[in-house]
Amino acid sequence: MVEPYIELDDVSFAYERCAPVIQALSLKLYKEQFTAITGPNGSGKTTLGKVMTGILRPQKGRVIICGKDSADMKLGEIGRRIGYLFQNPALQIFAPTVREEISFALELKGYSKEEIDSEISRSLKNFDLVHRSDAFPFKLSRGEKQRLAIAAMLVNKPDFLILDEPTTGLDMERRRVLSDILLGLKKKGIGMAVISHDRAFVACLADRTIRMYGGEIVEDRT
Ligand SMILES: Nc1ncnc2c1ncn2[C@@H]1O[C@H](COP(=O)(O)OP(=O)(O)OP(=O)(O)O)[C@@H](O)[C@H]1O
Ligand SMILES: [Mg+2]
Repeated sequence: MVEPYIELDDVSFAYERCAPVIQALSLKLYKEQFTAITGPNGSGKTTLGKVMTGILRPQKGRVIICGKDSADMKLGEIGRRIGYLFQNPALQIFAPTVREEISFALELKGYSKEEIDSEISRSLKNFDLVHRSDAFPFKLSRGEKQRLAIAAMLVNKPDFLILDEPTTGLDMERRRVLSDILLGLKKKGIGMAVISHDRAFVACLADRTIRMYGGEIVEDRT
């Protein structure tokens, strides 16, 4: 392992003054190491994920992404490198149809119609959404929304993924499919930090497990 992909240096974050949720936390995440982040409800996992992606900016300390201080980076610049899946997938779904939710990023990137069509077909098939391609995303089931949010994130081809509870709402079969997809991405060299309560799910994927409690890292096991 060489350079960390994401580095937190003495980071503290508070939503409300005098009540820090993350306290003087330092952490290095490597692309080569599939990292699971666990811990009880309210221990600060989601907050940590949002701080790592620049959605929340720390009051103290630095977040360094690919060697660059993220305080000097715009959200879009971070977003091109890091894909982030919200704990609640409904927060990141906005297009009028499932198909457009996936094509949006590709259109922004200026892909040709043929490239977009083939990417969409592949993505819909991978995430078992072919039969829902014209559906209104808000009417999808919880698990379908989750699969759509992951599919839409992956067409951006980020180098590093931060997934917050990605198995929420997925049945056993879809969980297995997601596990295979993440394993495939890992083999391709995509870095990953997965926040999860689902021990069985992360056990077979993770090279490293970080446990949080009260906004601090209480265990870091490789
Ligand atoms: N927007 C917010 N404003 C104020 N406090 C917040 C906000 N979001 C989270 N908190 C508080 O920060 C603490 C950590 O929350 P966080 O969502 O990071 O925990 P978590 O480990 O992800 O929990 P869960 O397992 O339930 O997802 C909690 O005490 C929570 O009440
Ligand atoms: Mg959370």
